[in-house]
Amino acid sequence: MLEPAQSDEIQFRRIARPDPVKVVAVTSGKGGVGKTNTCVNLAIALAKRGKRVMILDADLGLANVDVLLGLQPPFDLSHVLSDQRTLEEIIVEGPEGIQVVPAASGVLDMVRLTDQEHDILIRSFSSLARDIDVLLVDTAAGIADSVTTLASACQEVIVVACNEPAAITDAYALMKVLSLNYGVRKFQILSNRINNTQEGLTLFNKLAIASDRFLDVSLRYLGGIPEDALVRRSIEQQRAVVDAYPGSTAARAMARIAQVVDRWQPDPAAESTNTFFQNLLGQTVNGGQDN
Ligand SMILES: Nc1ncnc2c1ncn2[C@@H]1O[C@H](COP(=O)(O)OP(=O)(O)OP(=O)(O)O)[C@@H](O)[C@H]1O
Ligand SMILES: [Mg+2]
Repeated sequence: MLEPAQSDEIQFRRIARPDPVKVVAVTSGKGGVGKTNTCVNLAIALAKRGKRVMILDADLGLANVDVLLGLQPPFDLSHVLSDQRTLEEIIVEGPEGIQVVPAASGVLDMVRLTDQEHDILIRSFSSLARDIDVLLVDTAAGIADSVTTLASACQEVIVVACNEPAAITDAYALMKVLSLNYGVRKFQILSNRINNTQEGLTLFNKLAIASDRFLDVSLRYLGGIPEDALVRRSIEQQRAVVDAYPGSTAARAMARIAQVVDRWQPDPAAESTNTFFQNLLGQTVNGGQDN
């Protein structure tokens, strides 16, 4: 039995400490393989499971998160860094209450941020930590430092690939850089635009065989999302397929993937998004290189 004072103390610590936040990067070697679409759908599917989800839109391409969801954020992270707006003020809400943090060109290039900007980011995000369960980071494609520093600061890295030679070799190249330069040891492979279950597994096996031979990493198969015309239709409608066509094959695959992601245990050492930004900072100081 605990003494009353002791149990009070434990109770207090439970309340005072925010629950750990799962910070998950959605990334790829090759562009256009379906990262943003995955990110948006995974976020909504997790929200439907009762999770409080935030997307950090660090993909500065044309079809970014707000475009896919038909949102028009008036502000972005650049306004936070210049002290014109708070993080809360720039966040836009999407379907199922998901929260989207719009980044801006160059803003999350941690190598180039000033110390003051680093501090603002850490302070802003740590104040939000107690309000979210999952932070999904939609990165740009490729192996630029700005992408790899971001991905490697996350607890889990989802690598999206399609079953085509360039997407597979580029996914391998990305994992190679993340493992050799940043010590990332674990990757979750998501096969997108597959025609059948076997095709997704074959794609995974190709990556697993190559990385088993040459890299010190472990690959898990997160699952496959079929090629589905309703994905394209929902994008045209600026909606997520899990929202617009929940019965479609792609939406059901997304829901299954969300179920798996939901079961991942957050890293107990990373008790808030704070750790995510501190990871980023640490890398910038220790190993990040300008390119
Ligand atoms: N499962 C799918 N079925 C059918 N079409 C798909 C599927 N996934 C993605 N697409 C198509 O691929 C396009 C690119 O997807 P998305 O924008 O998510 O890729 P991305 O990896 O984020 O691209 P970028 O590297 O430019 O950021 C979509 O607009 C859609 O037309
Ligand atoms: Mg994208």
